[in-house]
Amino acid sequence: MKKTLIVVNWKSNKIVSEATQWLNEVESSKYQIVGHLEVVLCPPFTLLAGLKLKIENLKLKIVLGAQDVSPFPDGAYTGEISARMLKDLGLEYVIIGHSERRKYFQEDDQLLANKVKEALDVGLTPIFCVQEKMTPVPEGVKIILYEPVGAIETGQADNPESADLVGKFIKQRLDGEVVVLYGGSVTSENVASFCRLENLDGVAIGGASLDANKFIEILKNVAQI
Ligand code: PGA
Repeated sequence: MKKTLIVVNWKSNKIVSEATQWLNEVESSKYQIVGHLEVVLCPPFTLLAGLKLKIENLKLKIVLGAQDVSPFPDGAYTGEISARMLKDLGLEYVIIGHSERRKYFQEDDQLLANKVKEALDVGLTPIFCVQEKMTPVPEGVKIILYEPVGAIETGQADNPESADLVGKFIKQRLDGEVVVLYGGSVTSENVASFCRLENLDGVAIGGASLDANKFIEILKNVAQI
């Protein structure tokens, strides 16, 4: 059975009490995350340290990632969170190049390449977002998240077969050395239709992940594949 990656992107949502409630609901559902699923929870920076402890205490099979990282090392860069700081929290993954960062914060290809380099230098795994099949991908990236802009937060998920074709194209383009995930309006209803496809290795979930029960439904539907 192939490993399936489920990236949970909370974006700029949830305060401490809401995040704690979400985890408690996941725990009390008694749902056991099955072996071939890897769940990467990417909350806002403010929640990372607290969630790390709570996930350990509850013994949940969830690893943590960040939604962004500084393009610079530690230093005089007011407001930035460096890759070393994220690594120090025990994180494994970081999302880089999300279309919302490109759109609202004018992140360009060079800046994103710098972020990838910072992440790789400390041993974080970048989950690099591409919006099209030819979006430039910095060297060293092993996880690609294909998120067509029209599918994000719109309720209009891409057609699974065309997402699969893009996955195939990206794998060929990058010499097969990457895993490809799909993101954009994934729900409990459509998640299995993406995860069962040959060239897709998982999904990213935004809006539908904010409710713990919907999140558990998603996991159950993927686990059945
Ligand atoms: P969405 O977001 O599931 O709310 O469309 C996905 C994403 O941006 O990662």
